[in-house]
Amino acid sequence: MRSFASDNNSGIEPTILQAIIDANADHATPYGHDPYTEKAILLLKKSFGESAIAYLVNNGTAANTLSVKAVTRSHQAIICPDTSHMVVHEVGAVANFTGCSLYTIPNVSGKITAAAIEERYIASINDRHNNKVHVVSIAQTTEFGTVYTVEELQAISAVCKKHNLVFHVDGCRLSNAAVALNKSLKEITADVGVDVLTFGGTKNGLLFGEAIIFFRKELAAEFEYIQKQGLQLNSKMRFLSAQFIPYLEKNIWQRNAAHANLMCQKLAQGLAKRADIKLAYPADSNLFFAYFPKSVIAATQAKFPYYLFNEKTGFIRIVTSFDTTDKDVDEFLALALEAN
Ligand SMILES: Cc1ncc(COP(=O)(O)O)c(C=O)c1O
Repeated sequence: MRSFASDNNSGIEPTILQAIIDANADHATPYGHDPYTEKAILLLKKSFGESAIAYLVNNGTAANTLSVKAVTRSHQAIICPDTSHMVVHEVGAVANFTGCSLYTIPNVSGKITAAAIEERYIASINDRHNNKVHVVSIAQTTEFGTVYTVEELQAISAVCKKHNLVFHVDGCRLSNAAVALNKSLKEITADVGVDVLTFGGTKNGLLFGEAIIFFRKELAAEFEYIQKQGLQLNSKMRFLSAQFIPYLEKNIWQRNAAHANLMCQKLAQGLAKRADIKLAYPADSNLFFAYFPKSVIAATQAKFPYYLFNEKTGFIRIVTSFDTTDKDVDEFLALALEAN
Protein backbone atom coordinates (compact mmCIF):
# COMPACT_ATOMS: atom_id res chain seq x y z
CA MET A 1 0.00 0.00 0.00
CA ARG A 2 1.20 3.53 -0.85
CA SER A 3 -0.86 6.17 0.81
CA PHE A 4 -1.29 9.89 1.39
CA ALA A 5 -3.63 9.40 4.35
CA SER A 6 -1.22 10.17 7.16
CA ASP A 7 2.44 10.37 8.06
CA ASN A 8 1.52 7.69 10.62
CA ASN A 9 1.11 5.29 7.70
CA SER A 10 4.83 5.36 6.96
CA GLY A 11 7.34 2.97 8.46
CA ILE A 12 10.59 3.43 10.37
CA GLU A 13 13.52 5.27 8.83
CA PRO A 14 16.29 2.62 8.42
CA THR A 15 18.93 4.47 10.51
CA ILE A 16 16.42 4.73 13.34
CA LEU A 17 15.53 1.06 13.08
CA GLN A 18 19.25 0.21 13.17
CA ALA A 19 19.63 2.30 16.34
CA ILE A 20 16.90 0.21 18.00
CA ILE A 21 18.64 -3.00 16.89
CA ASP A 22 22.00 -1.73 18.19
CA ALA A 23 20.42 -0.89 21.56
CA ASN A 24 19.40 -4.55 21.79
CA ALA A 25 22.99 -5.76 22.03
CA ASP A 26 23.37 -5.92 25.80
CA HIS A 27 21.66 -5.21 29.10
CA ALA A 28 20.94 -1.70 30.38
CA THR A 29 19.47 -0.20 33.54
CA PRO A 30 15.70 0.32 33.15
CA TYR A 31 13.42 3.38 33.54
CA GLY A 32 15.71 5.79 31.69
CA HIS A 33 18.84 5.32 33.79
CA ASP A 34 20.71 4.08 30.74
CA PRO A 35 23.38 5.60 28.45
CA TYR A 36 20.98 5.93 25.49
CA THR A 37 18.53 8.06 27.45
CA GLU A 38 21.33 10.16 28.94
CA LYS A 39 22.70 10.83 25.46
CA ALA A 40 19.27 11.57 23.94
CA ILE A 41 18.56 14.10 26.70
CA LEU A 42 21.94 15.76 26.11
CA LEU A 43 21.32 15.94 22.36
CA LEU A 44 17.91 17.51 22.96
CA LYS A 45 19.65 20.13 25.11
CA LYS A 46 22.11 20.73 22.29
CA SER A 47 19.33 21.19 19.75
CA PHE A 48 16.97 23.27 21.86
CA GLY A 49 19.46 25.16 24.03
CA GLU A 50 20.85 24.97 27.56
CA SER A 51 17.51 25.76 29.20
CA ALA A 52 15.86 22.62 27.73
CA ILE A 53 14.85 19.93 30.22
CA ALA A 54 13.62 16.91 28.28
CA TYR A 55 11.63 13.74 28.90
CA LEU A 56 10.58 11.08 26.42
CA VAL A 57 7.11 9.60 26.09
CA ASN A 58 5.43 7.21 23.69
CA ASN A 59 2.96 9.26 21.69
CA GLY A 60 1.63 12.71 20.92
CA THR A 61 -1.51 12.51 23.02
CA ALA A 62 0.54 11.58 26.09
CA ALA A 63 3.05 14.32 25.28
CA ASN A 64 0.32 16.95 25.10
CA THR A 65 -1.51 15.68 28.15
CA LEU A 66 1.44 15.29 30.48
CA SER A 67 3.18 18.50 29.39
CA VAL A 68 0.00 20.46 30.10
CA LYS A 69 -0.59 18.52 33.32
CA ALA A 70 2.85 19.56 34.55
CA VAL A 71 2.14 23.27 34.18
CA THR A 72 -1.49 23.53 35.31
CA ARG A 73 -3.87 23.02 38.23
CA SER A 74 -7.47 21.94 37.76
CA HIS A 75 -9.04 25.36 38.36
CA GLN A 76 -7.19 26.79 35.36
CA ALA A 77 -7.98 27.17 31.64
CA ILE A 78 -6.10 26.76 28.39
CA ILE A 79 -6.65 29.03 25.39
CA CYS A 80 -6.21 27.20 22.07
CA PRO A 81 -7.59 27.14 18.52
CA ASP A 82 -10.86 25.31 17.90
CA THR A 83 -8.86 22.93 15.70
CA SER A 84 -6.49 21.95 18.52
CA HIS A 85 -5.74 18.24 18.57
CA MET A 86 -6.26 18.43 22.34
CA VAL A 87 -9.84 19.54 21.75
CA VAL A 88 -10.98 17.50 18.76
CA HIS A 89 -8.84 14.35 18.54
CA GLU A 90 -7.74 13.24 21.99
CA VAL A 91 -11.06 12.21 23.55
CA GLY A 92 -10.68 14.96 26.11
CA ALA A 93 -7.46 13.49 27.54
CA VAL A 94 -6.10 16.92 28.50
CA ALA A 95 -9.38 18.00 30.11
CA ASN A 96 -9.65 14.62 31.86
CA PHE A 97 -6.11 14.43 33.23
CA THR A 98 -5.71 18.10 34.12
CA GLY A 99 -9.27 19.08 35.08
CA CYS A 100 -8.72 22.32 33.16
CA SER A 101 -11.20 23.90 30.77
CA LEU A 102 -10.16 24.48 27.18
CA TYR A 103 -11.24 27.89 25.83
CA THR A 104 -11.23 27.71 22.06
CA ILE A 105 -10.74 30.55 19.59
CA PRO A 106 -11.93 30.25 15.95
CA ASN A 107 -8.92 29.42 13.81
CA VAL A 108 -7.82 31.25 10.70
CA SER A 109 -6.11 28.70 8.44
CA GLY A 110 -5.40 26.64 11.55
CA LYS A 111 -3.78 29.51 13.42
CA ILE A 112 -4.78 31.92 16.18
CA THR A 113 -3.38 35.42 16.49
CA ALA A 114 -1.87 37.23 19.44
CA ALA A 115 -4.71 39.78 19.22
CA ALA A 116 -7.40 37.07 19.40
CA ILE A 117 -5.65 35.47 22.38
CA GLU A 118 -5.49 38.79 24.18
CA GLU A 119 -9.18 39.40 23.45
CA ARG A 120 -10.13 35.94 24.75
CA TYR A 121 -8.00 36.44 27.84
CA ILE A 122 -9.66 39.75 28.61
CA ALA A 123 -13.13 38.28 27.96
CA SER A 124 -12.52 35.50 30.49
CA ILE A 125 -13.33 36.74 33.92
CA ASN A 126 -10.44 35.14 35.81
CA ASP A 127 -12.07 35.56 39.19
CA ARG A 128 -12.71 32.85 41.77
CA HIS A 129 -16.04 31.86 40.16
CA ASN A 130 -14.39 31.06 36.83
CA ASN A 131 -11.42 29.14 35.56
CA LYS A 132 -8.25 31.19 35.60
CA VAL A 133 -6.59 31.32 32.19
CA HIS A 134 -3.09 29.95 32.62
CA VAL A 135 -1.89 28.42 29.32
CA VAL A 136 -1.94 29.29 25.62
CA SER A 137 -1.48 26.25 23.39
CA ILE A 138 -0.88 26.21 19.65
CA ALA A 139 0.32 23.53 17.23
CA GLN A 140 3.36 24.10 15.00
CA THR A 141 2.77 22.99 12.25
CA THR A 142 -0.96 23.53 12.66
CA GLU A 143 -3.53 20.79 12.18
CA PHE A 144 -4.10 22.25 8.68
CA GLY A 145 -0.39 22.05 7.81
CA THR A 146 0.13 25.79 7.95
CA VAL A 147 3.14 27.24 9.77
CA TYR A 148 3.34 30.13 12.25
CA THR A 149 6.04 32.62 11.26
CA VAL A 150 8.70 33.67 13.77
CA GLU A 151 6.96 37.06 14.07
CA GLU A 152 3.61 35.41 14.83
CA LEU A 153 5.26 33.24 17.49
CA GLN A 154 6.96 36.26 19.03
CA ALA A 155 3.66 38.13 19.18
CA ILE A 156 1.90 35.21 20.91
CA SER A 157 4.81 34.89 23.30
CA ALA A 158 4.60 38.59 24.15
CA VAL A 159 0.89 38.26 25.08
CA CYS A 160 1.76 35.24 27.24
CA LYS A 161 4.51 37.16 29.05
CA LYS A 162 2.27 40.20 29.50
CA HIS A 163 -0.42 38.16 31.28
CA ASN A 164 1.90 35.64 32.91
CA LEU A 165 0.59 32.73 30.81
CA VAL A 166 2.48 29.57 29.91
CA PHE A 167 3.19 29.27 26.17
CA HIS A 168 2.68 25.63 25.14
CA VAL A 169 3.44 24.29 21.66
CA ASP A 170 2.22 20.96 20.28
CA GLY A 171 5.23 20.26 18.08
CA CYS A 172 4.26 16.85 16.84
CA ARG A 173 5.35 18.15 13.38
CA LEU A 174 7.83 20.75 14.62
CA SER A 175 10.54 19.43 12.28
CA ASN A 176 8.36 20.18 9.26
CA ALA A 177 7.82 23.71 10.56
CA ALA A 178 11.53 24.34 11.17
CA VAL A 179 12.35 23.18 7.65
CA ALA A 180 9.54 25.27 6.13
CA LEU A 181 10.85 28.36 7.93
CA ASN A 182 14.50 27.49 7.30
CA LYS A 183 15.20 27.87 11.02
CA SER A 184 16.78 25.70 13.70
CA LEU A 185 14.62 23.94 16.29
CA LYS A 186 15.85 26.39 18.93
CA GLU A 187 15.07 29.47 16.85
CA ILE A 188 11.36 28.62 16.68
CA THR A 189 11.00 27.52 20.31
CA ALA A 190 13.38 28.68 23.06
CA ASP A 191 14.35 31.83 21.17
CA VAL A 192 10.75 33.00 20.71
CA GLY A 193 9.82 32.37 24.35
CA VAL A 194 8.06 28.99 24.21
CA ASP A 195 7.77 27.64 27.77
CA VAL A 196 6.84 24.02 27.15
CA LEU A 197 6.93 21.98 23.98
CA THR A 198 6.24 18.57 22.56
CA PHE A 199 8.70 17.52 19.86
CA GLY A 200 7.50 14.81 17.53
CA GLY A 201 9.27 11.76 16.24
CA THR A 202 6.59 9.24 15.29
CA LYS A 203 5.30 11.11 12.24
CA ASN A 204 8.82 11.80 11.00
CA GLY A 205 10.51 8.40 10.84
CA LEU A 206 10.60 7.01 14.38
CA LEU A 207 8.92 3.76 15.38
CA PHE A 208 7.33 5.73 18.20
CA GLY A 209 8.23 8.55 20.55
CA GLU A 210 7.93 12.23 21.33
CA ALA A 211 9.93 14.49 23.62
CA ILE A 212 8.47 16.86 26.18
CA ILE A 213 10.72 19.87 26.66
CA PHE A 214 10.42 22.42 29.43
CA PHE A 215 12.30 25.70 28.96
CA ARG A 216 11.85 26.87 32.56
CA LYS A 217 13.18 24.73 35.37
CA GLU A 218 10.25 25.37 37.71
CA LEU A 219 7.78 24.01 35.12
CA ALA A 220 9.56 20.64 35.12
CA ALA A 221 9.42 20.27 38.90
CA GLU A 222 8.16 16.82 39.89
CA PHE A 223 7.59 15.84 36.24
CA GLU A 224 9.19 12.47 36.99
CA TYR A 225 6.20 11.67 39.15
CA ILE A 226 3.72 12.98 36.58
CA GLN A 227 5.35 10.82 33.89
CA LYS A 228 5.10 7.67 36.02
CA GLN A 229 1.57 8.36 37.24
CA GLY A 230 0.65 9.19 33.63
CA LEU A 231 1.72 5.68 32.53
CA GLN A 232 4.57 6.93 30.34
CA LEU A 233 7.70 5.78 32.17
CA ASN A 234 8.86 2.86 30.03
CA SER A 235 10.93 0.26 31.80
CA LYS A 236 12.89 -0.47 28.60
CA MET A 237 13.23 3.23 27.92
CA ARG A 238 16.46 2.72 26.00
CA PHE A 239 14.63 1.60 22.86
CA LEU A 240 12.64 4.83 22.79
CA SER A 241 15.69 6.96 23.60
CA ALA A 242 18.04 5.21 21.13
CA GLN A 243 15.93 6.54 18.26
CA PHE A 244 16.48 10.16 19.25
CA ILE A 245 20.27 9.78 19.01
CA PRO A 246 20.58 9.52 15.20
CA TYR A 247 17.41 11.60 14.83
CA LEU A 248 19.30 14.56 16.32
CA GLU A 249 22.97 13.68 15.87
CA LYS A 250 22.60 12.86 12.16
CA ASN A 251 19.93 15.52 11.55
CA ILE A 252 17.45 12.89 10.44
CA TRP A 253 14.65 15.08 11.82
CA GLN A 254 15.65 17.69 9.24
CA ARG A 255 16.32 15.39 6.32
CA ASN A 256 13.04 13.51 6.73
CA ALA A 257 10.97 16.65 7.19
CA ALA A 258 12.64 18.38 4.23
CA HIS A 259 11.83 15.43 2.02
CA ALA A 260 8.21 15.18 3.19
CA ASN A 261 7.73 18.94 2.70
CA LEU A 262 9.26 18.80 -0.78
CA MET A 263 6.97 15.94 -1.84
CA CYS A 264 3.98 17.88 -0.54
CA GLN A 265 4.94 20.98 -2.47
CA LYS A 266 5.49 18.96 -5.61
CA LEU A 267 2.03 17.45 -5.28
CA ALA A 268 0.35 20.79 -4.56
CA GLN A 269 2.10 22.50 -7.47
CA GLY A 270 1.25 19.65 -9.83
CA LEU A 271 -2.41 19.68 -8.82
CA ALA A 272 -2.55 23.45 -9.38
CA LYS A 273 -2.56 22.65 -13.12
CA ARG A 274 -6.23 21.75 -12.67
CA ALA A 275 -8.44 24.81 -12.32
CA ASP A 276 -11.12 22.70 -10.57
CA ILE A 277 -8.82 21.76 -7.65
CA LYS A 278 -8.68 24.35 -4.89
CA LEU A 279 -6.33 24.29 -1.91
CA ALA A 280 -8.23 25.13 1.30
CA TYR A 281 -5.11 26.54 3.00
CA PRO A 282 -1.52 27.14 1.89
CA ALA A 283 0.58 23.97 1.54
CA ASP A 284 3.29 25.20 3.92
CA SER A 285 4.61 21.86 5.16
CA ASN A 286 3.88 18.17 4.59
CA LEU A 287 0.10 18.20 4.43
CA PHE A 288 -2.67 20.12 2.77
CA PHE A 289 -6.44 20.22 2.61
CA ALA A 290 -8.14 20.76 -0.73
CA TYR A 291 -11.37 20.43 -2.67
CA PHE A 292 -11.19 17.69 -5.30
CA PRO A 293 -13.79 17.13 -8.02
CA LYS A 294 -15.50 13.73 -8.00
CA SER A 295 -13.59 12.57 -11.10
CA VAL A 296 -10.22 13.13 -9.40
CA ILE A 297 -11.32 11.32 -6.25
CA ALA A 298 -12.58 8.38 -8.32
CA ALA A 299 -9.28 8.22 -10.21
CA THR A 300 -6.89 8.48 -7.27
CA GLN A 301 -8.31 7.39 -3.96
CA ALA A 302 -8.35 3.64 -4.48
CA LYS A 303 -4.69 3.55 -5.54
CA PHE A 304 -3.42 6.12 -3.00
CA PRO A 305 -5.77 6.26 0.00
CA TYR A 306 -6.29 9.67 1.65
CA TYR A 307 -8.99 11.18 3.82
CA LEU A 308 -12.19 12.37 2.17
CA PHE A 309 -14.04 14.38 4.81
CA ASN A 310 -17.02 15.51 2.77
CA GLU A 311 -18.24 13.64 -0.31
CA LYS A 312 -20.44 16.53 -1.36
CA THR A 313 -17.77 19.23 -1.36
CA GLY A 314 -14.83 16.91 -2.10
CA PHE A 315 -12.97 18.20 0.96
CA ILE A 316 -9.85 16.03 1.32
CA ARG A 317 -6.52 15.87 3.15
CA ILE A 318 -3.21 14.76 1.64
CA VAL A 319 -0.20 13.99 3.84
CA THR A 320 3.31 13.15 2.64
CA SER A 321 5.96 11.32 4.66
CA PHE A 322 9.72 10.91 4.86
CA ASP A 323 9.37 7.87 2.63
CA THR A 324 7.03 9.30 -0.01
CA THR A 325 8.75 8.74 -3.34
CA ASP A 326 8.90 10.78 -6.54
CA LYS A 327 7.20 7.80 -8.16
CA ASP A 328 4.26 8.06 -5.69
CA VAL A 329 3.88 11.74 -6.49
CA ASP A 330 4.25 11.34 -10.26
CA GLU A 331 1.75 8.46 -10.39
CA PHE A 332 -0.74 10.36 -8.27
CA LEU A 333 -0.40 13.48 -10.41
CA ALA A 334 -0.79 11.50 -13.63
CA LEU A 335 -4.04 9.95 -12.34
CA ALA A 336 -5.34 13.27 -11.02
CA LEU A 337 -4.47 15.33 -14.08
CA GLU A 338 -5.88 12.82 -16.56
CA ALA A 339 -9.16 12.28 -14.70
CA ASN A 340 -12.30 13.60 -16.33
C1 LIG B 1 -1.10 18.07 15.84
C2 LIG B 1 -1.13 16.74 16.52
N1 LIG B 1 -0.89 16.68 17.84
C3 LIG B 1 -0.89 15.52 18.51
C4 LIG B 1 -1.15 14.32 17.86
C5 LIG B 1 -1.26 13.07 18.68
O1 LIG B 1 -0.35 12.10 18.38
P1 LIG B 1 -0.63 10.54 18.72
O2 LIG B 1 -1.60 10.05 17.70
O3 LIG B 1 0.74 9.95 18.62
O4 LIG B 1 -1.18 10.44 20.10
C6 LIG B 1 -1.39 14.33 16.47
C7 LIG B 1 -1.66 13.06 15.75
O5 LIG B 1 -2.19 13.01 14.69
C8 LIG B 1 -1.39 15.57 15.79
O6 LIG B 1 -1.66 15.64 14.47
